[in-house]
Amino acid sequence: MSNARATEAWRKYAKPGGLLGDGGPSMSLFGKVYARCYDQFMDRIDRSGAAEHRRRLVEEAGGKVLEIGAGTGKNLPLYRAAELVVALDPDPAMLARAQDAALEARVPVEVVEGDARALPFPDASIDAVVFSLVLCTVPDLDRAIAEARRVLRPGGTLRFYEHVRAADPRLALWQDLLERPWGWVGRGCHPNRDTAAVATARFSVLSLEEFDIPAMPWIVRPHVIGIAERPAA
Ligand SMILES: C[S@@+](CC[C@H](N)C(=O)[O-])C[C@H]1O[C@@H](n2cnc3c(N)ncnc32)[C@H](O)[C@@H]1O
Repeated sequence: MSNARATEAWRKYAKPGGLLGDGGPSMSLFGKVYARCYDQFMDRIDRSGAAEHRRRLVEEAGGKVLEIGAGTGKNLPLYRAAELVVALDPDPAMLARAQDAALEARVPVEVVEGDARALPFPDASIDAVVFSLVLCTVPDLDRAIAEARRVLRPGGTLRFYEHVRAADPRLALWQDLLERPWGWVGRGCHPNRDTAAVATARFSVLSLEEFDIPAMPWIVRPHVIGIAERPAA
């Protein structure tokens, strides 16, 4: 499928009043400014070396791939093996930027408005689900993972790159203490989630790596990158 056709195809999923490229009513000025600032901030982090983690996360994801919370589409140009990437996010301003990023992609991309808590896809219909810096923000982590598991086929992979709760108890304490104010700045981001444990609880872990990203604000420096497989049962 060409990118132009794929880009057109997302519209069948779009909610009325939430049209992305049309600048619909749900795309507030605040949303647009936030999306632009996020892009600029993340460009700086990616240039510091984090782009390599993004590449490792998605490069080999094959078949039909669903990227949940795709945001401004930072990963979209990095896919190589996917037959199709569906980039899903609830925020129209982020998705408007993802539409632009999709034009740089080497694989077909559909940009779709949706929520991790109720994915608009049938059971076992997806080969790989990608979460990239999003499980810190979803309002219900358990439900988001359960939905990802539901749409993945048996043997399909969950790929995640996330900032997580610190192993160092002093930093973890600060993450707990600053959770609320950090959430105001980061639009609901929780710095203290033990994301890897929740994400892999009902999956078979294939790889899991922990590391710091020094360019990130100190409260969200600890990261993980991992791949886990959905078991048959
Ligand atoms: C920090 S950004 C990460 C964007 C992108 N994945 C990246 O790697 O740069 C978090 C994203 O999660 C999205 N998000 C928040 N709540 C969500 C939900 N319930 N379902 C899906 N995505 C959600 C936000 O709209 C935002 O685009």
